[in-house]
Amino acid sequence: MLNEMDLMIKKCLFPVAGYGTRFLPATKAMPKEMLPILEKPLVQYGVEEAHQAGMRDIGFVTGRGKRAIEDHFDISYELEHQIAGTGKETALSGIRKLIEESTFSYTRQIEMRGLGDAILAGRTIIGDEPFGVVLADDLCFAEPLGVLAQMAELFKQFRCSIVAIEEVPEDQAHQYGVIEGEALTDEIFRVTDMVEKPPKGTAPSNLAIIGRYILTPDIFELIEETPPGKNGEVQITDALLTQAKRGCVIAYKFKGQRFDCGSIGGFVDATNFCYSKMRDAE
Ligand code: G1P
Repeated sequence: MLNEMDLMIKKCLFPVAGYGTRFLPATKAMPKEMLPILEKPLVQYGVEEAHQAGMRDIGFVTGRGKRAIEDHFDISYELEHQIAGTGKETALSGIRKLIEESTFSYTRQIEMRGLGDAILAGRTIIGDEPFGVVLADDLCFAEPLGVLAQMAELFKQFRCSIVAIEEVPEDQAHQYGVIEGEALTDEIFRVTDMVEKPPKGTAPSNLAIIGRYILTPDIFELIEETPPGKNGEVQITDALLTQAKRGCVIAYKFKGQRFDCGSIGGFVDATNFCYSKMRDAE
């Protein structure tokens, strides 16, 4: 019998090996995950969301040119010594708290073979337990519970993989993994089919997967058995379909707001959203 503690998700994986070509030249020498929304890099928002959900072991699947992420989640002695005792010290209190209360592990994806392959590369960090996955490009705001915390609650009930979904306009469905499912409530679906970036006009619904997942560890073997799919890459959507056929994938229409910060428009919208929130709080 699983008890409440066994159902707590402790680990969260951040696939961050991608190049971020849509933001060139800004991302030529800097990871796209370090682009700031106001004063905070995108990846820190994601780690804060994981932290709020109780996931304190953070794993990054990195690639070449991503060193700045490791440095961000570490102490910067010289800088911190410089600003100690000044008003600027508080600017680092948020990141200091994350560093003190979390552990950070890194592994590299050697070749870009898709999101499924990136998640498989994280197996050594995750081991044999359920875990969260955050795609930092998708910036989510929700109060009082962040999206990952909402999903962690749902996991306790269903104990199977969960994907976050949102309704998108039909003409955008081809940019996402799209699910088909049996509605259990207005927000919760048991997934019956899912397809990665369906050709225009063929999507089974307008329910698109966004970059938040909770995965059960059997996913690793399923990824290993999954042949390359869309764009010749190993897709997590395809591996999840095998779980879905067994009735083991839940799709959850999260409460909150999500910005696609992998696109310039979404990035600007997120910046404006945060800026007006900041102004309101002043
Ligand atoms: C990935 C997933 C896709 C999902 C999307 C959410 O695609 O493969 O299923 O809908 O993230 O952002 P990517 O945007 O990395 O191409």
